[in-house]
Amino acid sequence: MKHPVKVYLEKGKTYHFCTCGKSADGVLCDGSHKGSEFTPKEFIATRNSEFLLCLCKKSTCTPYCDGTHAKHEKLDLDFLLD
Ligand code: FES
Repeated sequence: MKHPVKVYLEKGKTYHFCTCGKSADGVLCDGSHKGSEFTPKEFIATRNSEFLLCLCKKSTCTPYCDGTHAKHEKLDLDFLLD
């Protein structure tokens, strides 16, 4: 599962969150969605700070991580059977 990415955002600056998952860093749009049905989600940072941005694209409050990725993680316990 894709874990969130820590990104420093500047207060008042407009960003475009990648919703297609094809951008180079997976979190901010770089135009890679062109030709698909996806469009980036515009948002404005509310403070100068590091934020955890969603990479799994299942957060209910994108662009920010809400921990949803952890609910979809499957434990790989095969090492216990060796
Ligand atoms: S690159 Fe993913 S929405 Fe633009």
